[in-house]
Amino acid sequence: MAIAITILTGTMTGTAELVAEEVRDRLRAAGAAVEIVPMDGQGVEVFARRGVFLICTSTYGQGDVPDNAQALFAALEAEKPALAHVEYGVIALGDRTYAATFCFGGKRFDQLLSSLGARRVGEIMLHDASAGTIPEEVAVEWAESWLDMLREARDEAA
Ligand SMILES: Cc1cc2nc3c(=O)[nH]c(=O)nc-3n(C[C@H](O)[C@H](O)[C@H](O)COP(=O)(O)O)c2cc1C
Repeated sequence: MAIAITILTGTMTGTAELVAEEVRDRLRAAGAAVEIVPMDGQGVEVFARRGVFLICTSTYGQGDVPDNAQALFAALEAEKPALAHVEYGVIALGDRTYAATFCFGGKRFDQLLSSLGARRVGEIMLHDASAGTIPEEVAVEWAESWLDMLREARDEAA
């Protein structure tokens, strides 16, 4: 059966959304069943969805998650759902100009989800907006090897 992947997007100016769309298209072409769910208005129940999660978020303020991700982040902190069934990956967008808080949006989601028992698959993808690389290009390449990792883990489990 195709691996089901939910991409949860947190964005202020749309970059993470664009990245998510390109990643979705590539993962679908590789045979995964992928859906983008903007974090707006989502609660902890979103993690009851079948399959694997991909957090795709930028960073704002002083290392904060974007406005549309604030409510979900706060709900996870307050309600502390048990997420031992959850596997996830992280695409973190940021800018090294903000040296002290580089990619903290994605890093903070990673820490929170792992503190709730969820298991990250692969390294966090960090994108630096001042590096001159195109975020969707970097992300699509990262996502292909992430999907390989997910598939290998399933082959080993089978
Ligand atoms: C006001 C402002 C604050 C930002 N703060 C941070 C930050 O603290 N750390 C970081 O790594 N990037 C920071 N960034 C960079 C953004 O996260 C980065 O440009 C990202 O690609 C934007 O993605 P988005 O369009 O999906 O929101 C900031 C950008 C702006 C405009």
